Amino acid sequence: MPALPVPTIAPGHVFFFGLGYTALRLARRMRDAGWQVSGTVRSEEKAAALAAQEGVTVHVFDGTAPIAGSEPFAGVTHVVDTVPPRAILVPALAQHREDLKACRTLRWIGYLSTPAVYGDRQGGVVREDEVPTPGSKRGELRAAAEQAWLGAFTGSAVSVQVFRVAGIYGPGAGRNAIAQLKAGRARIIDKPGQVFNRIQVDDIGSVLLASMARPRDGGIYNVADTEACSPADPIVFAAGLIGVDPPVAVPFDSADLSDMARSFYSECKRLDTSRLTDELGAQLTYPTYREGLRAIVEVDGMS
Ligand SMILES: NC(=O)c1ccc[n+]([C@@H]2O[C@H](COP(=O)([O-])OP(=O)(O)OC[C@H]3O[C@@H](n4cnc5c(N)ncnc54)[C@H](OP(=O)(O)O)[C@@H]3O)[C@@H](O)[C@H]2O)c1
Repeated sequence: MPALPVPTIAPGHVFFFGLGYTALRLARRMRDAGWQVSGTVRSEEKAAALAAQEGVTVHVFDGTAPIAGSEPFAGVTHVVDTVPPRAILVPALAQHREDLKACRTLRWIGYLSTPAVYGDRQGGVVREDEVPTPGSKRGELRAAAEQAWLGAFTGSAVSVQVFRVAGIYGPGAGRNAIAQLKAGRARIIDKPGQVFNRIQVDDIGSVLLASMARPRDGGIYNVADTEACSPADPIVFAAGLIGVDPPVAVPFDSADLSDMARSFYSECKRLDTSRLTDELGAQLTYPTYREGLRAIVEVDGMS
């Protein structure tokens, strides 16, 4: 895999609400650059396994009760929230708003949101300063969660940023078209004119690091690659890389889709990402799915 950018700011203490797929990859990068790293998962078993494997501090937190133990935020300088809004809109704020406000070392907060806040734009280009017009329950929840974070620290020295993250893919965890083809799970949903952006998981981390180096309170960023494309394109490309036939396309109207997937495919937009370069100076290591998928194949030793 190509070398990734390393943090350009002095190491502090980063706390991840939700040490899932995206967060864990960034956590490793920051740990290796000298940061103190802590975070949360929902089960005791996962917390124990991660702490042992990764050498980071892991708390159990499912949003229904505060983190057990004393002072989980002692010395924390940066907070990344990757927890999706469900029954509790923002678990971190529901349980720890006052603790975070009392944390004198805290400087930067990043909330991972989604472009669902924009609703359907019929293939149009959307910028961050457009008023959100969510067209789904999950979009409404995301917009409300963004507002909760953006309003939580006004008048303080803490900068709160929101990142509207495109479709995440990357190595491992079955999170890419190559793994899905190999597992027989790849599907092509045919909806004429449908496009969306993607983002390689480590490029999300690079954008977050760039924002930590250039905080802007209230900053909102579309986090996406440079090429919105059809659902089929990456799958056909991945199939070519590993020498298999792509699956037959299934028409959207007759496809067996979860409510979440159907709501995702019912919206179409292209994300403007000029803020990533113009404001943050962030460099994407994988500007399109082609670079991202090729790198995955190379690591698998299949090229
Ligand atoms: N998948 C996509 O293409 C996509 C696109 C745009 C945005 N997003 C959003 O971007 C964020 C990061 O994505 P990801 O794929 O890295 O997420 P992920 O792997 O699913 O990780 C989510 C983390 O949040 C924790 N979590 C979930 N519900 C929780 C709750 N109620 N209380 C406390 N913790 C909870 C999970 O705990 P456990 O570790 O115990 O499971 C996990 O650590 C998520 O908010 C996701 O919805 C995803």
